[in-house]
Amino acid sequence: MSQTTEAGFSIQTIGVVGAGTMGNGIAQVAARAGFKVILRDVKDEFLQRGMAAVDKSLQRDVDKERLKEEEKRAVISRIQTVTEMDALSLADLVVEAVTEDVNVKAGVFRQLDKITKPEAILASNTSSISITKLGAATDRPEKVIGMHFMNPVPVMKLVEIIRGLATSDETYNVVRDLTLKLEKTPLECNDMPGFVSNRVLMPMINEAIFALYENVATRESIDGIMKLGMNHPMGPLTLADFIGLDVCLAILNVLHEGLGDPKYRPCPLLKRYVDAGWLGRKTGRGFYEY
Ligand code: CAA
Repeated sequence: MSQTTEAGFSIQTIGVVGAGTMGNGIAQVAARAGFKVILRDVKDEFLQRGMAAVDKSLQRDVDKERLKEEEKRAVISRIQTVTEMDALSLADLVVEAVTEDVNVKAGVFRQLDKITKPEAILASNTSSISITKLGAATDRPEKVIGMHFMNPVPVMKLVEIIRGLATSDETYNVVRDLTLKLEKTPLECNDMPGFVSNRVLMPMINEAIFALYENVATRESIDGIMKLGMNHPMGPLTLADFIGLDVCLAILNVLHEGLGDPKYRPCPLLKRYVDAGWLGRKTGRGFYEY
C-alpha cells in the first residue's frame, strides 16, 4: 500500500513509537491496510508483548473466518520490530504512542525531528497533550499533527485528528486520507485541552467516581445505570479501569490545568487509587478486581 500526497510524496512506510496497547493496535491496523510498519520500543520484551497482542487480535478474525491464516501471516510479516530509534529514518509518517507525559513525548518528537526525512509527517496519539507544544519541539511544526486512536484500536472506528496551531492544510489532508485507508473515520478538531473526546468523556468518568466516593450508589449500580440507561457499551467505572486510572488522572490534570476551571478537579478517590498502584485492568485491580 502507498499513498501519494498533493506534493507527490508517497506514504509507504509507517513508523510507530511505543508497542503498548495503543502502539501495537496502530501497527496492526496499518499493516492490515497494506502498509509497511516499523514498530519501535525500548526493550525487546515490550516488542514481543506487543506482537503477541497483535497475533491474538488477528487470531480472533481467523477464528471467525474473517481472515485467512496466510493473510494473518502476511500482516505480521509487514511489521518490523526495532529497538533503535534510527530505524525510523525510513518512515514516511511516524505515529508516537508513548507514555502520556508531555516531557517524554516532546523528547520523542525532538529525536524524530532529527532522524526522519524532512518531508516525513510526525503524528501523536496523545489523548490530551497539546499538539502545538509537541510541534514546537521540532523544526517542522507544520508537519506535526494529532492522530488520536481509540482503544481497542482494531475495533473502534474513530480517529480524532487534531490540528496544532502551525499544522498545515497539506499535512491535515494527507492524514485524513491515510485514516480512510486504515478503514477508520477521521473527525477533525482544534488543539484545546482534552480535544473533544476527553473533554466530554473524562468529566463523565470523574463524576461517576465522585458518585462512588460520595456513596450515591455501588460501583455495580453506577455502571449498570449508565450501561442500561444510556446504552453505553461499558459503565464509566469499568471504562476507567479499561483506559487505566493513571491515564484518566493525567487527562483530568491536563483539563484542570489547561482550562483552569474547578469543574475538572480530579476526584480524590481517583488520586488515592493511582497512589495505591490500582490502575485498572492492567494491574489487576482498579474499581474492580481482575
Ligand atoms: N482486538 C480485536 N478485536 C477485538 C478486541 C481487540 N483487542 N477487543 C474486542 N474485539 C472485537 C471482538 O472480536 C468482537 O468482534 P465481533 O463482534 O465482530 O465478533 C467485538 O470486538 C466485541 O467484543 P466482545 O464481544 O469480546 O466484547 P464486547 O461486546 O463487550 O465489546 C468492546 C468489547 C469493543 C471493548 C466494548 O465493550 C466497547 O466498545 N467498550 C467501550 C470502548 C471505548 O469506549 N473505548 C474508548 C476508550 S477512550 C480512548 O480510547 C481514548 C482515550 O483517550 C482515553
